Amino acid sequence: MKKIAILTSGGDAPGMNAAIRAVVRTALHNGLEVMGVERGYAGLISGELHPMDRRSVSDIIQRGGTVLRTARCNEFKTEEGREKGAKILKAYGVDALVVIGGDGSFTGAKLLSKLGVKTVGLPGTIDNDLAYTDYTIGFDTALNTVLDAINKLRDTSTSHERVSVVEIMGRNCGDLALYAGLAGGAESIVVPEKGFDKDELCKTILEGKVKGKMHNLILVAEGVGGAEELASYVEEVTGIEARATILGHIQRGGSPSASDRVLASKLGHRAVEVLLEGKTARVIGIRNNQVIDVDIDEALAIERKFDEKLYDIATEISS
Ligand code: ADP
Ligand code: F6P
Repeated sequence: MKKIAILTSGGDAPGMNAAIRAVVRTALHNGLEVMGVERGYAGLISGELHPMDRRSVSDIIQRGGTVLRTARCNEFKTEEGREKGAKILKAYGVDALVVIGGDGSFTGAKLLSKLGVKTVGLPGTIDNDLAYTDYTIGFDTALNTVLDAINKLRDTSTSHERVSVVEIMGRNCGDLALYAGLAGGAESIVVPEKGFDKDELCKTILEGKVKGKMHNLILVAEGVGGAEELASYVEEVTGIEARATILGHIQRGGSPSASDRVLASKLGHRAVEVLLEGKTARVIGIRNNQVIDVDIDEALAIERKFDEKLYDIATEISS
C-alpha cells in the first residue's frame, strides 16, 4: 500500500479534525502518501481530492467541525455513484480510504470495499449511537456543551421557579440526554429507549414542588421530540410556568474536549495500522478502554444496548 485517502461524512462532530490529523501524520510517518477528500462522498464522486502533508493538519487539533468539510450525498447510495467514487480513487492511485462518520457513512464504506477499495471507518458522531464502540468521537464534547447550557438554564429556571424542558440531539439514541441528565442533575430524563407517561411526569413535578424544589429540569431526547408541546402540557396540567429550549446545532460545534482529542488520536492512529496490516472493511472503536477493530458488517449488525443501570441511577438520585 502506497497511498490512502481520507474523508469526513454525515453530521460533523468535534474531534473529527483531531482524527484527520492522527491519520495523516501516522500515514506519513509510515511512508504513505495521503489525499484529503473534500465534502465526504459528494466530493469523492466529483473528484475533489488534494494531497495532504504534515503542515496541512497543523493547528487543527483544537478546532471543532471538519477542515475537510462534510456532506450528505444521496448519489453515493446508488451503485453508479459508488462506481464513480471507486474510479476516481483508482485514477488518483489511492489504495485505501479512511471514512470518519456514523453508521450511514460506514454503510457507504462497506459497499465501496466491495468494489475493491480498502476501507476503514472511524466513529465520528455526537450521537454515540454505534453499538460496537463504547464512545464515538464528538460525544464527550457535545455532552459538555449540553451540560454548560443546562447549568445556565438551571439558574434562570430557579430564579423564576419554572419548569425547563430542554430538547437534546441524538437521533434515535438517548445517550446524550441520559449522560447530560445525570451529570447536570436533571429532575427527569425522557429518552426514546424508555416508555414515557406525560401525566406521571406532571405528578413528579408537583411532588417536587411540595418537597421544596425551586426548579424542574426535564431533558427530552430529540428521538422523543416535542419540547414545546411538552412544556405547554406541563404548564397546563401543573399550573407551573414552563419554558422549552431546543439546543439544536450548538451541540455540534466547539473545540473538542481533551477526551475527544485523545480518543480521536488513538483511533486515527489505529486506523492506519489496520490498513498497514492488510485489513479492509473494518471500523475502529473503543471497548473497555481498549482500542478495537471490527468487521463493518458485524459492527453494524450489533444491536445497541441502552444503559439501564445509568438510567436507574439518574432516576434514583434525581428526587
Ligand atoms: P452518518 O454517517 O452520520 O450516519 P448519514 O446517515 O447522513 O450520516 O450518512 C452519511 C452519508 O453516507 C450519506 O449521505 C451517504 O452518502 C452515505 N450513505 C448513507 N447510507 C448509505 C447507504 N445505505 N449506502 C451507501 N451510502 C450511504
Ligand atoms: O447525527 C448528528 C445529528 O446532529 C443528530 O443528532 C441530528 O438528528 C442530526 O444530525 C441533525 O442533522 P442536520 O445537521 O442535517 O440538521
